This record gives sequence, C-alpha cells and structure tokens, in this order.
Amino acid sequence: MLNTPIRSVQWSDTHITLLDQRLLPGKIEFLSLTTIEDVWDAIFQLKVRGAPAIGIAAAYGLALWTQQTQLANFDKFRSELEKQGAYLESSRPTAVNLFWAVKRILSVVEQASTVETAKKIILTEAKLIEKEDEGVCRSIGEYAIDLFQDEDILLTHCNAGGIATARYGTALAPFYIAKERGLNLKAYASETRPVLQGARLTAWELQQLGVDVTLITDNMVAHTIKSKGITAVIVGADRIAANGDTANKIGTYGLALIAKALGVPFYVAAPLSTIDIATSSGEEIEIEERHPDEVRTLNGQAITTPDMKVFNPAFDVTPSELITGIITEKGMIQGDYQTKLADLFK
Ligand code: MRU
Repeated sequence: MLNTPIRSVQWSDTHITLLDQRLLPGKIEFLSLTTIEDVWDAIFQLKVRGAPAIGIAAAYGLALWTQQTQLANFDKFRSELEKQGAYLESSRPTAVNLFWAVKRILSVVEQASTVETAKKIILTEAKLIEKEDEGVCRSIGEYAIDLFQDEDILLTHCNAGGIATARYGTALAPFYIAKERGLNLKAYASETRPVLQGARLTAWELQQLGVDVTLITDNMVAHTIKSKGITAVIVGADRIAANGDTANKIGTYGLALIAKALGVPFYVAAPLSTIDIATSSGEEIEIEERHPDEVRTLNGQAITTPDMKVFNPAFDVTPSELITGIITEKGMIQGDYQTKLADLFK
C-alpha cells in the first residue's frame, strides 16, 4: 500500500511532473513535461486523464508556456496566450474542466498590465486551481458519505479517483472519507473497456487505500447489481449540462439504465467546474471518438482483424431523469436539476 497519496499533476518550478496513468498499475512512473506541446500530448494520449486532472494539467500547461515565452509586449503576449489556450482545448473535446481551466487562466490576465505580472498571476492561479480541487473533492466525499452506511457496497465505473483529480477523486472520495472515519465501504469496479480505467486505475487505487474492492467486466454489471447486494452506483462526470444530463465514460448510460431497472440509486459526483451551464442539454455535448485500435486491441494484442470497422465513443450521456442525485462540493441536488444547478451558480 502507498503511504502518501499520489499526485497525478504537480508544478515543479521549470516543468510539470506528471504521473503516466497509461502505465498503471504495473509501473508508477512520473514524466517531466517541459513544453506546452508535451501537455497537449499528455492529455491526448491519456497520460493524464479524468476531467479535473485534465483541467489542472491545462492550467499548468499555460503557466509553463508563460514562464518560457520571450514575448515582452503585453498585447502580443495576451493574444498568443489565447492561441495557446485554444491549442490545449483541441486535445480532447468532452471534459469541460479543460475549457473551464483555460478560461480561468485567460481571465486572470485581465488583472495584469505587464507580461511580468501576468506570468506571476497565471502561475498563482494554476496552483490555486489544483489546491481548490483538493478541497472541493474532499467536500464531495463528505457529502457523499452521508448517503451510505458502514458495509454498503458501491459500484463505480471508469476512474473518478484521486489520480483523476488533485486528491480524493469525486466518485471515489467517499471511500477516502470512509477510511478516515473507520467505516468499511466496499466496492465493485467495472473494468471500463476499451482503455480499462476501472481495472487498471480504480481497482488498483481502491486496493492501495485498503478498500475491499472486486473487479468485474462491463457485461457483468446487471447480474452483479442483482446478485451482490449493491447499495448504489456512483460515478464521476466529464460535463454536466444545465438540465443535469451527464456525459461520463462510455458505459455510464447503460449502467444508469440498469440501476433504474433494478431500483438501485445512481449518483453522479462532480465539482461545479464540471457543470456547463452554457450547454442546455446532453444533446449539445460533443462526444470524443478515439482511435479504432483501442477497440481492436487489448493490452497491445489484436483481438480482431486489423481492418475491422470500429465505433469508439469515449463517453456517453446519461439523461438526468436516470440520476438519483448530483453530489457537488455544495451538497447534493435532486429533482429539478435545471433550477437547482442554475441556483448553484447564482
Ligand atoms: O477518458 P477518461 O479516462 O478521461 O474519462 C474519465 C471519466 O469519464 C471520469 O469518470 C470523469 O472524468 C470524472 S474524473 C473525476
């Protein structure tokens, strides 16, 4: 077991230190990202993944560019910074935290009038984004834990854990709080084909935490909920529309339908930075499609013919009516998501 929590993204003065999540659980290896192109590539290739962690990486990516640029003219600096922001935004389309973090960095520049000041406040803001996320995730966990009892068994999909955030995670945050309080929450993790975030990351992360975790393949979900006394399903989110429709890892929608059919509560745990009030419903959320080889292969081994036609959406949208509650750092909201989500931003 690991004694200290792993930080997936960290600022290290001249570079970003990044946990290479592709190598887990076999190897715990940290990369040094020294250019904004490295950051783009890390997000695109899933070296860093999970909506809040992507946002933190993007904020530090802009800070990195800022520290390195030779531009001395403030207007030129600002206009180039906007271009670099748009460049990072082109790495992955679905997780809104990426766009949220870029916007937040661009907006603090408004407070500066020289390149020197802008450099300082951008780095401060990027560090603040990371620090705040830790507190936010802890609050999510504290609200979430109140929904569960000792010995409850939760099923989760993909990885919405500490390594997908600054610390604690969103859907996995109640497991961290449970440990602190001496409660024994148990978990089932679905493997999450094609990239296996559930098997490689969630099952490993919970095992490191000392949680009683059981791994299943994605097609075992209905049978497991029915036969293993699952108390609730809890997942993270990549983007929550103004009406509560939630984009999360592919398979989440099916899981929500199954939970509904079997009468098990289905919770989404996510920070306000994942709520996109400007997007009215899930219909408007762009779903990333990834390379067909992710489906054609398993751990680098071909499982079909090389030219097999493939459909590989990375996310799906769960309609809000299937969601029992959305747990944020401000508490849980239920029912009229449209009004209650809007209220959170007032
Ligand atoms: O493709 P990924 O691994 O970035 O997808 C991640 C998810 O779907 C997570 O559930 C979501 O980002 C929430 S992470 C706290």
